[in-house]
Amino acid sequence: MTVIAVHGGAGAESPADRPARRDGVARAVEAGWAVLDAGGHALDAVIAAVAVLEDDPLFNAGLGSVLTVEGVVEMDASLMAGDTLQAGAVGAVTGVRNPVRLARAVLDEGREVFLVGEPAERLAGRHGLATCAPDALITEEARRRWRERLAPGGETVGAVARDTAGRLAAATSTGGVTGKRRGRLGDSAVIGAGTYADDTLGAGSATGPGEAIIRLCLVRTALELIARGADAPGAAAESLALLQRRLGATAGIILLDPRGQVGMARTTESMPAAYRSATGATVVLD
Ligand code: GLY
Repeated sequence: MTVIAVHGGAGAESPADRPARRDGVARAVEAGWAVLDAGGHALDAVIAAVAVLEDDPLFNAGLGSVLTVEGVVEMDASLMAGDTLQAGAVGAVTGVRNPVRLARAVLDEGREVFLVGEPAERLAGRHGLATCAPDALITEEARRRWRERLAPGGETVGAVARDTAGRLAAATSTGGVTGKRRGRLGDSAVIGAGTYADDTLGAGSATGPGEAIIRLCLVRTALELIARGADAPGAAAESLALLQRRLGATAGIILLDPRGQVGMARTTESMPAAYRSATGATVVLD
C-alpha cells in the first residue's frame, strides 16, 4: 500500500500550540503525499514532509530549533532508502534551512554516511540548498525558553513512506535537546537508532531522549520485532515498552511494515502525528 506517516515529536505541549501542531503534521503529510501520488520515490516523499516541519517554527527542527548551552543552534538529521540501503546523516550543523536536504546531499555524494559540523555545512553550496545566518534559525520563543531554562516548545520531526513501487524510506530531523553541549549528537543523526529503512524489514523514525534511543537502537529494534512476527502497531508499542523498562525513558515512534501497515506509539503525554494511505484522506491523530 502507498502510504506516508509523519510525527512532530513526542513530549509535552502547551494546549495553545496543539491545533497548530496538528495542522503542521497534516500539511507535512500532504506535501509527502503529493510526491507519492505523482509516482515519486519514497525518499523524496519523506524529505518533502520533513522539510515542511523544519520550516515551521512550532517544531524543534530547522527554524525553531532549541539552543545549546551557549545559545546557538546545532541540528541533526538523517534519512535512509529501504530499496538500496543508502543512507545520509548530518550532525551539529547550522546555517542551513533544511538539514534533511543536507542529509540527502551526503547520501547523494555517497562517500560517507555521516558528516558533522562545518564540512557537512559546506555541502549546502554544492547542492544548491538554502542557507542562512545561524541566528536566523532562532525564534523569539526558543530564545525565551533558553533564557528561562524551560523545556523545548516543540520536538523532533520525522516521516516514513512506502511508494507505489513498494519502496520504503524514513527521515528524521531535530534541533536536539535544550542546553546540550556543543558537539552533542542525538539519535536523529544515527542510522538504526532514530531512523532506519529496509524494504525487507520496514521503516521507522523515533523521537525522544537521544542518549536512551541510541543505546537501544530503537528503530532497528522495533523493525526486528516486526521481522519476528509483530504487526507494526504492536512493534511500535513493544519497542517503547522495552525502552522504558531497560532505560527508564519515554519516547515516540512511527513505523511502516514492508506492506505499508502503519504503527504509531508514544509513552509521552503527546505526539502530533498524521498519515495518509491510498485508501483514504489524511488522518490526524491526537
Ligand atoms: N531525539 C532528539 C535528540 O535526542 O536529539
